[in-house]
Parts: sequence; structure tokens; C-alpha cells
Amino acid sequence: MLSLRRKRGPGKYLGLPVSIVRLFNEGYMANRVVIGSQWGDEGKAKVVDFLTLDADIIVRFQGGANAGHTVEVGDQKFVFHLIPSGIMHADKVCVIGNGVVLDPIQTLAEIADLHTKGINPEGRLFIANNAHVVLPYHSTLDKAKEKKAGKAAIGTTGRGIGPCYSDKVNRIGVRVGDLMDERELRPRVEAMAKVHNEEFTVMYDVPAIDPEVVIKDYLELGQKIKPFVIDVSEYLYKAVKAGKRLVFEGAQGTILDVDQGTYPFVTSSNTVAGYASCGAGLGPTALDEVWGVVKAYTTRVGNGPFPTELLDETGDTLRKIGNEYGATTGRNRRCGWFDAPVVRKATVVNGLTHLAITKLDVLDTFDTVKICTHYECDGEKLEFIPNQLSKVGRCTPVYEELPGWKQDTTKCRSYDELPENAKKYLQRMAELVDVKIGMISIGAKRDQSIVIDAGLAKGLKL
Ligand code: GDP
Ligand code: IMO
Ligand code: MG
Repeated sequence: MLSLRRKRGPGKYLGLPVSIVRLFNEGYMANRVVIGSQWGDEGKAKVVDFLTLDADIIVRFQGGANAGHTVEVGDQKFVFHLIPSGIMHADKVCVIGNGVVLDPIQTLAEIADLHTKGINPEGRLFIANNAHVVLPYHSTLDKAKEKKAGKAAIGTTGRGIGPCYSDKVNRIGVRVGDLMDERELRPRVEAMAKVHNEEFTVMYDVPAIDPEVVIKDYLELGQKIKPFVIDVSEYLYKAVKAGKRLVFEGAQGTILDVDQGTYPFVTSSNTVAGYASCGAGLGPTALDEVWGVVKAYTTRVGNGPFPTELLDETGDTLRKIGNEYGATTGRNRRCGWFDAPVVRKATVVNGLTHLAITKLDVLDTFDTVKICTHYECDGEKLEFIPNQLSKVGRCTPVYEELPGWKQDTTKCRSYDELPENAKKYLQRMAELVDVKIGMISIGAKRDQSIVIDAGLAKGLKL
């Protein structure tokens, strides 16, 4: 089989157009990394659910229950926080990799919820034994820190994500495999309790948490999740060798990445595509394509800079039509126009090969739509959102205004059926960030998807 693994982006391979190469390449299916290109909630789960039709295994590789991933199939709506969205397909395997911080209580609640909806994850959900565990110390600390920070709060989800990742890097964390063996768990919880209980009582005026209770509860939880726990790295290595196709499901978004985002108003993990390799325990040669999910406008939950934010009626209209309320915390999502410097940054730091543009339908009723093409900052033209927070604050978005299409797109099933002005808007987005469009989403349902990439369309059955 001719391999496209070294090929990046559109264009030619061995002098042949890619579409022709694909003809010679019957059976080739890429492993795809799907990441958020903005501040999260781009519709990653909808895109993952769709691309899952063309895959065998779906892998979460970072983040934790701070994620809220919504999938609508028929009349049913599912919101996943930890379990990969692919679990709804009865013939697919789902994996939670070592890069995730796992809350066992949340995991078991999601499994129980799946059972009530007639879905059985047993035998096809696997959890890495070296993923870190979110303990009550972490969520307590998360909330206490936010409360104390007052106006400077990050606006976290309160799910203990930051403190859990801190303990991991600080080498005092507890890992999933430890929950199955008291000899491992006891000394780790005791050491962690010492650090955090002192912090709670001295710095935050929060009651200490008894390590004996934590040890007892988490040994019990360990027994409940034991049937799902494996060495994920070994499992995925063998799966790739056997020709299985993978979809890596990112959480959060690029501008929430701890290195690339609007630090410190970010989450505590690397959300970028390269981390799919680290967080799944699989070498980067297994990653073929990187799909950047891009909302047709921009949203952000929590605090921190947002250059194209609309604090007016237009912002409220986007929120209302787009139903922009947090899937994890229920908070209002802040809304604004499409921001090319944000998605350009995502293009670079993720190495995007495709765009999946979602929620185009939300713009259906607008007379005109605006696109921020670049920023002006300290007399300079900026094409990328800057790394320094104060500099982001000084950026003025420069807009282009395009005519709206004033037509319902939710029933369109091919690119040709889309209104001309919607096509112009999409083309301008793709042109500004220099990445080809792989799919367009015009509604929350699985079939409200328009496939552009020919190779993709070939393997898909709805
Ligand atoms: P994620 O965190 O990136 O998976 O996104 P969320 O689930 O937090 O938020 C996306 C919301 O938009 C969900 O309620 C989806 O059901 C919904 N959604 C996804 N794609 C589309 C679309 O193309 N159009 C509309 N109107 N809704 C969509
Ligand atoms: P999905 O996967 C949107 C935001 C929080 C806060 C910041 C830090 O659904 O896109 P944390 O609890 O992670 O320490 O909070 O990150 N945040 C998200 N925003 N979507 C998410 O996930 C998010 N996960 C975290 O609102 O601003
Ligand atoms: Mg979400």
C-alpha cells in the first residue's frame, strides 16, 4: 500500500494530485486527530461522532471532566465529559489515554447513564492504568483557589483539573493503577493529604480531608473501574499494527492550551494535536491528519481576553440562536465574530490538514457577517493572536464585512446546495487561515454534515 503518512496538507504527492494518489491507494484510511481551534466548545464531539463512522477506535488524550461534549443522534442527546463520544457506536472501541486526568466517580456516572440509554461500554471502553486520578483534594483546592482569587479568578470548571495536573508534574499524584493496590495507594494519598490539608487549613480556611476516607472510597472505586483498566499504549500499538483506524478526540481548544493559549487564562493541559501522541502513549508517526474544528463564529467560557467579543445585542443573538450555554457548567458562553488570528495560530501549532467548520447555520439569519482578518496592536499589523496577555488586551480587531445569505442551510447536504454568500464566507475563512475545508456542519444531528474531502466521502456510510 502506498503510504501518505509523510504527506502533509493539500497539493501533490510524488508529482500526482492527491485525489489521483487516493485512487491507487484503495483501503488507505488516515488516523485523525480532532482538536478545537478556538476556546473550546467548537462542536468537536459532533465532528468526532461523524468521523467515527470511518474509524475503529476513539481516543481521549488530555483534559478531564472539564470537557462537555455533546452528541445528538435521533431524538437522544448525550453530553460526555470523560468517555469518548464514539461510545455511542456499538461496534467501536473507546480509549481514555494516560494524558487524561480521570475522575472515577464521573466515569462511573457516565457509564451508568449510558446503561439507562441502552448502551453498553463493557468490553469496548479502556482506561490507561497510568492516567492520573482526580481526588477530592483537587476539586476542593480548585474551588478554594478560585474563591480566594476573587476578580483575578480564571473561571475554571471547578473539576479539579489544574490541581490534579499540578500534582502529576510535582510527582505526588495518584494513578489509576494505584487504585487497585492499597500498598501503592496508601502512601501516595497520605503524602498528598499532608501537602493539601496544610494548604486547606492555613491558606484557604477549608476543612481538611481525612486520607483514610479517601483511601477507603478510592479502593472501592478502583474495584468498580478495574474491568476497564489496561496498558493503553500497548493496546493502541497492537491495534495500529493490525490496521485499525483511530480518531483522537481533543478536549478544550488551542487557545486554552497551557503553552499556546492566553496564559494564565487557560486550562492545565496541552490541548494541541501533538499531545495526542504523548497522551495516548503512541508515537507521533501514528498521526496522519489533523482536523481543526472551527465554529463559524467565536465563543469563550470563563475569564480572559477575547478580542472579537460582542458585548451587545449581536452577541446576545449569537448566544440565543447558537444555544451557547456551557455543557459542563451551564454558564453563558461569551460570543463574538470569527477571529482569523486565533485560528491561524491553531493552524500553526497543530499543523492542521483540514478544517471542520461547525454551526454555520447559526449565521443563517444575519444581514451581514463580520470576519476579523487581523489585529492592530501598538501600530503593528498582527496575523496571530500574541502570547503575552497584556498585548492581547491591546489588540484591536480589524474586520471585513460580508453579506449574509438569509437562507436556511440546515437542510443542505452538499456544498453545491449552500447559498452563494455562505460559500463565499466559508471560502474566505479557509483562505485567511490557509487550510482546506474537510467538512461543514449545519446542525447538531449526524446527517447535518457536508463532506468536502473526497477521500473521506469514499469511506463513509451514514
Ligand atoms: P465540544 O465541546 O467542542 O464538543 O462542543 P459542545 O458540545 O460543548 O458545544 C457544541 C454545541 O453545538 C452542542 O450543543 C452541539 O450539539 C451543537 N452543535 C454542533 N454542531 C452544530 C452545528 O453545526 N449547528 C448547530 N446549530 N449546533 C451544533
Ligand atoms: P470542551 O472540551 C470551553 C475553560 C474554563 C476556564 C478554563 C480553565 O467542552 O471544549 P479548567 O476547569 O480547565 O481548569 O478551566 O478553561 N474550559 C473550557 N471552555 N470548553 C471546554 O471543554 C473547557 N474546559 C475548560 O471555562 O476558562
Ligand atoms: Mg464543550
